Amino acid sequence: MEFPFDLAPVLGGERFCVVDQHLRPAGRGAGAKREELEQQLRTVIDELGKASAKAQGLSTPVTSAARMESNRHVLYLLRDTRPPRGAVLGFLKVGYKKLFLLERDGSHVEVEPLCVLDFYVHESQQRRGLGRELFQEMLQRERVSPQRLAVDRPSPKLLGFLGKHFGLSQPIPQVNNFVIFEGFFSTRTAPARRPFPRPRPEEPIKPYSLSERDFLREEPEPPWPFNLARGSPVRGSLRPFLLRRESPPGTAPEPPPRRASSLGRVGR
Ligand code: ACO
Repeated sequence: MEFPFDLAPVLGGERFCVVDQHLRPAGRGAGAKREELEQQLRTVIDELGKASAKAQGLSTPVTSAARMESNRHVLYLLRDTRPPRGAVLGFLKVGYKKLFLLERDGSHVEVEPLCVLDFYVHESQQRRGLGRELFQEMLQRERVSPQRLAVDRPSPKLLGFLGKHFGLSQPIPQVNNFVIFEGFFSTRTAPARRPFPRPRPEEPIKPYSLSERDFLREEPEPPWPFNLARGSPVRGSLRPFLLRRESPPGTAPEPPPRRASSLGRVGR
């Protein structure tokens, strides 16, 4: 996907770049130049979100600059960096969400896994391995294995993709429209979990973290008492942001992470 401006000052000069809630462009311009770069970054995110929604037949984009700002999500962008202006080939959006999930035996558990929220490769570039490249980059940076992910209402293409590249072929559908796969709950590195009391028959479970696609009902923060929780997993690209936010006033924030580019890229 091309844009009527040079993408290098906006996204940096590397094949992958990562954007978080702060929506910081790569370029270091000040004043009006800085504002222009910020606006261009917002345009890139909005246009990608629209293209993804169109590809999935959604009436409203799951991804936009405004939604990025109000959620702790991370956007992985795959670039074609060739001059004169470069292009964006695709993106993958992930974020941690508290979910009530159903195990195969029917029991419910509360977990906070990394979720695949939106994923798109430009139509002209699909089925060339770019989606896999993006996904692998995300797994590596977030230090998560594919079977530990929850996926928000996967499309048939995404189900095929996950089966082909990661052997995720036995989806376990959930009431909240997320899908997990065989292996999600197994072994000791499984996501943090808490037994959840079975509801009485007249009280259906009401997951407080809904699908990204339930736009009108989405809650930016979970309700009390879950918004008080301090023990939530904070990993990968989300870690520096959350730690900075949680520094008490007057204390020095944790030093920024080593960056692979100036656009929020998080080194490991
Ligand atoms: N029809 C069926 N399966 C497809 C298709 C398609 N048109 N395109 C990709 N796939 C699956 C197949 O398993 C394919 O393997 P195959 O060609 O041997 O059949 C495999 O993906 C190809 O892998 P990659 O080339 O690495 O993936 P690609 O670059 O095509 O990206 C993606 C995959 C992101 C799903 C892309 O097809 C796309 O953008 N689709 C439209 C948007 C979409 O459905 N996004 C997921 C929404 S759900 C969510 O984000 C939570």
